[in-house]
Amino acid sequence: MKFPCTFHGFEISLMGKDMSVIEEVKQRTDIAEVIGQFTKLTKAGKTYRGLCPFHTEKTPSFFVYPDQQSWHCFGACNTGGDVFSFIMKKQGIEFGEALRYLAERAGVTLPAYHEREGEKDEKERLLQINRTAAEYYHQLLKTPAAKQARDYLEERGLTAETMVKFQLGYAPDNWEVLKNYLMDKGYTEKELLQGGLINRSDTGNKTYDRFRHKIMFPICDIKGNVTGFGARVLDDSLPKYINSPQTPVFDKSGSLYGINNAAEAIRKADVAIFVEGYLDVIIPHQYGFNNVIASMGTSITERQISTVKRLTTNVALALDADAAGEEAMLRTVQYENLLNNEVKVVLLPEGKDPDEVIKEDAAVWQKLVAEAIPVVDFTIKTATAGLDLSKVKDKTVAEGKLLPVIAGINNDVRRDHYLEQLRLMTGSSYRGMQMALNKIKGGAKTGKVETETTKIVQSSLSNPVEEYLLSLLVQHPEIKDLAAELPAEYFESTENREIFLAWRNNQELELLKEQLDNSIREHLQYLVEKKIPASHLEQKYTDCSLRLREKYSRHLERKKAQVLALERETGGTDAELAKLEEQGISASATLRDVFAQRSLHQKG
Ligand code: UTP
Ligand code: MN
Repeated sequence: MKFPCTFHGFEISLMGKDMSVIEEVKQRTDIAEVIGQFTKLTKAGKTYRGLCPFHTEKTPSFFVYPDQQSWHCFGACNTGGDVFSFIMKKQGIEFGEALRYLAERAGVTLPAYHEREGEKDEKERLLQINRTAAEYYHQLLKTPAAKQARDYLEERGLTAETMVKFQLGYAPDNWEVLKNYLMDKGYTEKELLQGGLINRSDTGNKTYDRFRHKIMFPICDIKGNVTGFGARVLDDSLPKYINSPQTPVFDKSGSLYGINNAAEAIRKADVAIFVEGYLDVIIPHQYGFNNVIASMGTSITERQISTVKRLTTNVALALDADAAGEEAMLRTVQYENLLNNEVKVVLLPEGKDPDEVIKEDAAVWQKLVAEAIPVVDFTIKTATAGLDLSKVKDKTVAEGKLLPVIAGINNDVRRDHYLEQLRLMTGSSYRGMQMALNKIKGGAKTGKVETETTKIVQSSLSNPVEEYLLSLLVQHPEIKDLAAELPAEYFESTENREIFLAWRNNQELELLKEQLDNSIREHLQYLVEKKIPASHLEQKYTDCSLRLREKYSRHLERKKAQVLALERETGGTDAELAKLEEQGISASATLRDVFAQRSLHQKG
């Protein structure tokens, strides 16, 4: 069955691709049941009604539409979405995490990856190359040429056993030793380039070993696959460390150094300790503190937290004091939301890293870990240090710094706890504090808030207009400004919406792909390859966006009508009715506006 339909002279198939795994999860999920875990829902006609889980209200203005697989809050939020956006918003998690959660719940097995043909073999091969390289570097550490490296590691206090456990190695001071070794083993130059083990010279006609005269730290995933390398100079020269580049198997921001050796201990101790450096992992392990892992110098990412969350929800950060900036604290609160648990901070003595602390006195490390304090307590302490809270000026400074952090806490009990703590410190009124907090929460322009979306229609396998518009955007980033005001809510397909949101932050295709969850990349590729002639881009864009807006308004109006009918039946209060009617009317106005613009557009 095929319904041809033309658009700008091009036939678009309404039967898109096969049902995606995302669609399957959605169809197998009872949205009312999922949302019902977070707020008490009462059946009302075809809909469910309850108090909005995203804002405080006395009369329920939050509705779930099971037949449309969507929800909408007609109260303060005035927004809605599908089950994915609900979970993302409520749990403060990324799309991929929400998908995994809902898939598990619905009993849908997610493919490990949505890989293109041969991608899996290619990755296997790269892991094999890395493993071979790691073993080779490790062997080389025992050779006379590696004496300086061995001396350095011994000087840093590492035992021979530790060097074996972490498979430390030495990359000789030579341009082609690894390249020759691996090519003799049958690996190709192309594969070595792809794996980031060799570089191509600027002139382009030569390749050479990336790592030379370096101490090698193989970086492994939780299963012990060698995904990449860190490499340290043997002296004080800079840069101190270089890493493998991004490869199909290595992404620094998603990796956790030491996780292969630490996983079991993290599970047993039921706590994971994050440090920054390679040696800050290795030394604790040598002293028997095996639950330590490193983010490798960059700030901790959601992906790293997700990995750890499978082992424990207790996380402590033993980071440099200056890594604990305000922006970092805001992010840390998001990790707390992800873990649904507080994150603690291990306070290190000024200027010392875990490596040094432990070598000096392992008992001190144990004590510092035991005395770790919740990150929000720590933030309140540092943000108010040196302030005189009896002065209005300092009070304002403290609240300005801390309210955004507190507002970010999803857990009501914990948020109230800290709000009260701050209130007692500043002596502000409860009402004033609450108002300031609500203002921040309402006006927060974070990625999370932007994901508030609306899924309206019964699942449709393909949304041709959405896809056409997205294809236009991903293929022609030059028309980016046109879409500046386009609400993500207009996209009814979860995949399209996620792609649009990611695209808005980043138009560079490769980066965009990296940002998206695996389950969506294939769809992006489809959009990238869709044939769209590069003419009248602006007109095409306007056409599509008007159509989407029209559809959105129609569907929203339908929802409101449903609610209104219900209100009349059950005799809702006049005030409520008036409010909803007012909203209903404003939707109609939007619709009229759309028609007006369309006829103008068609005439012009
Ligand atoms: P540090 O500068 O704190 O180094 O960077 P360190 O681990 O204490 O190094 P040592 O003790 O002198 O050997 C922390 C981490 O940041 C990353 C590395 O992962 C490092 O372990 N880093 C640092 C880089 O990737 N490149 C650099 O140039 C420096
Ligand atoms: Mn160090």
